[in-house]
Amino acid sequence: MVLFYTRPTSLIGRQWLRTYTTARSNLTVDALVYSQYGKPTDVLKWHSYPLPALTSETVHVKFLASPINPADVNQVQGAYPLKPPFERLAESDDTKYAVGGNEGVAQVVAVGDNVKGLKIGDQVIMANAGYGTWRTYAAGPASDFQALPMADNISKIQLATLSVNPCTAYRMLKDFVNLKQGDYVIQNGANSAVGQSVIQLAKAWGIKTINVVRNRPDIDDLRKDLEQLGATHVITDDTLGSHETKSMIKAWGQPKLGLNCVGGKSATEMARHLSANGQYVTYGAMARAPLALPASLLIFKNLAFHGFWMSRWTDTHSVEERTNMVNELIGLMKQGAFTEPKWTPVEWNEQAVKTAVDQGIQGFGTGKQVILF
Ligand SMILES: NC(=O)c1ccc[n+]([C@@H]2O[C@H](COP(=O)([O-])OP(=O)(O)OC[C@H]3O[C@@H](n4cnc5c(N)ncnc54)[C@H](OP(=O)(O)O)[C@@H]3O)[C@@H](O)[C@H]2O)c1
Repeated sequence: MVLFYTRPTSLIGRQWLRTYTTARSNLTVDALVYSQYGKPTDVLKWHSYPLPALTSETVHVKFLASPINPADVNQVQGAYPLKPPFERLAESDDTKYAVGGNEGVAQVVAVGDNVKGLKIGDQVIMANAGYGTWRTYAAGPASDFQALPMADNISKIQLATLSVNPCTAYRMLKDFVNLKQGDYVIQNGANSAVGQSVIQLAKAWGIKTINVVRNRPDIDDLRKDLEQLGATHVITDDTLGSHETKSMIKAWGQPKLGLNCVGGKSATEMARHLSANGQYVTYGAMARAPLALPASLLIFKNLAFHGFWMSRWTDTHSVEERTNMVNELIGLMKQGAFTEPKWTPVEWNEQAVKTAVDQGIQGFGTGKQVILF
C-alpha cells in the first residue's frame, strides 16, 4: 500500500489527509529521507521507492531544482516547529520516513483525467511548506502544487528559490509599515537570500536600504555585489554601535522598518537605529543568540517588535493572495528587476547533499546551495 498526502488542515502538528493507493507506476523515486531527527549527516539517507500510479485525481511531477535552506536543516534536526509526519513511502517500506526539503520547482509529467488547472509541461512550486522536495518525483492531487506562469527569461534557480525567501521579503516589506518612496529599511543578514530579495524589491519599489553584513576579508567584493543588486548602503555589524554609524544613519534618514534574521548583540544595536514608532520584524535567529531589548526602545521610542513566519502567512491567507504575490514577483523577474540569488550547485547524490547540508549551517558560505536533479 502506498500513500500520499493532500493539503494539510492546520499548521503546527499538521494533520495530513491521506489517500491510499496500492498501485505503483513504473517510475522510481530517489529521495533524501530521514526516519528520526538528529544531525543531518547522521540521519539523512538515500531511499528509492516506486512512484504511486497516476489516478484520475492526481498528477506526477518531476523535480528540477531544490534549495537547501536553513529551515530545512533545522527541520531534520527536529528544531523546527513544522514537523512533517514520518510515514511509509512505499508498500515495501518497513521504516517510516520524512522526505527532506521544503522548496523547489518541479515539472508536471502526467495528469489524471479529472485534474483541473494543471497540464503536462507546467512548472509548479509546492502549495505548502513541509512537502519534501529532495526527491526526483512526487505524486499527489493538483492542490499540492501551484502552477507558475511560463517565461523564457526566468531560470529554474529563480523558480526553485521563489516560494520561501522572495515571498518572505515581499510580505515583510508590505505588511508592517506603509513604506513610501525614499523611506529607509535596515536589515541584517543582508547577503542572505532573503536579504538579496529585500534589496531588489525595495529598489523596484523606490525604497532605500541599509544593509548590515558580517565583516570578512573580502568585504569590498560583497559590498560591490550588494550595491550592484540595488543596495543603497552596506555596513558591517561591528560598526553598528559606533557614534559615526549613528550620525551617518541619522543623516541618511532613520529607517521605519528593521528586519532581523540574526539576533544577539548586533540585532539589538540595529534596533537602536530605527526612527521613533519604527517597526522591527524578527524572522530568523542565525546567531542562535536571544534578542535583548532595552526598555527605552519600547518606552521612549515606541518601537514595535514583531515576528514573521511565511508558513503561518501561507496558512492564514488565500491561494489567490499567494498567487497574486507570486505573479508580481514573476513579473519583476520577467522585467529583469529580480534576479536569482547568489547560488552554488549541489549534485544529486547522497554524499554531495549531506556535505552541502553540513556547510549550509556553518556561515560565510558561497551562496544558496541548490540541488540540481
Ligand atoms: N520566518 C520566515 O518565514 C523565514 C523565511 C525565510 C527565511 N527565514 C530565515 O531567514 C534567515 C535567512 O535565510 P536564507 O535562506 O535567506 O539564508 P541563506 O541565504 O542561507 O544565508 C544565510 C545567512 O545567514 C547569515 N549567518 C549565518 N550564520 C550566521 C551567524 N552565526 N551570525 C550571523 N549571521 C549568520 C549568513 O551571513 P554570513 O555570510 O555572514 O555567514 C547569511 O546572511 C534564516 O534564519 C532563515 O531561517 C525565515
